[in-house]
Amino acid sequence: MRDALTNPSAGSVRTADPTSRAEMLRRFVHVYWLRPENAFWMTLRSQALSRFELGSPSIDVSCGDGIFTFLHCGGQFSPDFDVFQSVADLEKVRDHHADMFDAVCDGYAPKMIAAPSCRVDVGADMKRSMLMKAGKLNFYGELVEHDNNQPLPFEDDSFETVYCNSAYWVECIDGFLPELSRIVRPGGRVVLQVKLDAMRGYTLSQYESTLGKRFLDIIGRGRLDCWPSLCDRGTSEKRFAKAGLSIVEATPFVTATHSHIWDIGLRPIAPLLVKMTDALSPETRASIKSEWVDLFCELLEPMCDPDLNLLSNLSEPAEIQYVLSC
Ligand SMILES: C[S@@+](CC[C@H](N)C(=O)[O-])C[C@H]1O[C@@H](n2cnc3c(N)ncnc32)[C@H](O)[C@@H]1O
Repeated sequence: MRDALTNPSAGSVRTADPTSRAEMLRRFVHVYWLRPENAFWMTLRSQALSRFELGSPSIDVSCGDGIFTFLHCGGQFSPDFDVFQSVADLEKVRDHHADMFDAVCDGYAPKMIAAPSCRVDVGADMKRSMLMKAGKLNFYGELVEHDNNQPLPFEDDSFETVYCNSAYWVECIDGFLPELSRIVRPGGRVVLQVKLDAMRGYTLSQYESTLGKRFLDIIGRGRLDCWPSLCDRGTSEKRFAKAGLSIVEATPFVTATHSHIWDIGLRPIAPLLVKMTDALSPETRASIKSEWVDLFCELLEPMCDPDLNLLSNLSEPAEIQYVLSC
């Protein structure tokens, strides 16, 4: 196994779409503007993924609404589109941890100004609303509703590239990983972007006695409950081996510093921000959004360095990209 940070020449360098980091960040901030901390995390993900060509046939497992992969592949939306225009259950987000994005509003039609440089053959997810949104991108050849706790509905050796950035959401991870190994062709690659449980330490939870449980609940909003297979690096790598997956390259790309900043972010107030922006005229919303995007692009630019670590005592990464082969 080669660690990409210590072996920068490891892995095949992606040749297509030389979009600059600043431009990539701007595209993510436009779409996720009310959650700017997600925009920089996705920029880091996209940079890590840019090391590779997504060879065809390809599958994006747990593709969600497809926006991340669409933008990663060079697609671009009109500045007046963002993910906060098709949300629901805003009242249930704080205390019931509802996913406000699990909804499609009538007439959902993301306006695009550039098509991606490639298409992904299959997108799969367990949420129908997300797949309906993904379908509007005209980016996936086929969309499949599927729960990853069940065997994947694809023949053996179906794909050259299997990409998934949500494996740690799957409860039955020891059933899921061998399924990824089964559907990738000999010589193909499984690319997983995996959060690590070091993230549990990159929060304010150690100060619970001072801040109180309610404070931490409001900040955390149950997100760790969504990640049942979150584990440390060693356990992840043992799971890959057990599933018959060998590590070709491991690229840590999110540091403790990134994770700490992301931990606070605007998560607790996002539903209120959505309500506020909904109350604006389209012209006022667009004008505020434009200033907001400019400001956050400047503020987040230093966050897009995958090596940024202001907390030198915390060295365990928060997310690693693994390129795996059978
Ligand atoms: C954080 S989102 C990421 C979506 C997308 N990959 C992206 O980067 O925007 C996690 C996704 O995993 C999906 N998911 C979670 N558990 C799943 C499961 N057991 N089977 C299939 N999809 C699942 C959710 O529906 C959601 O769309």
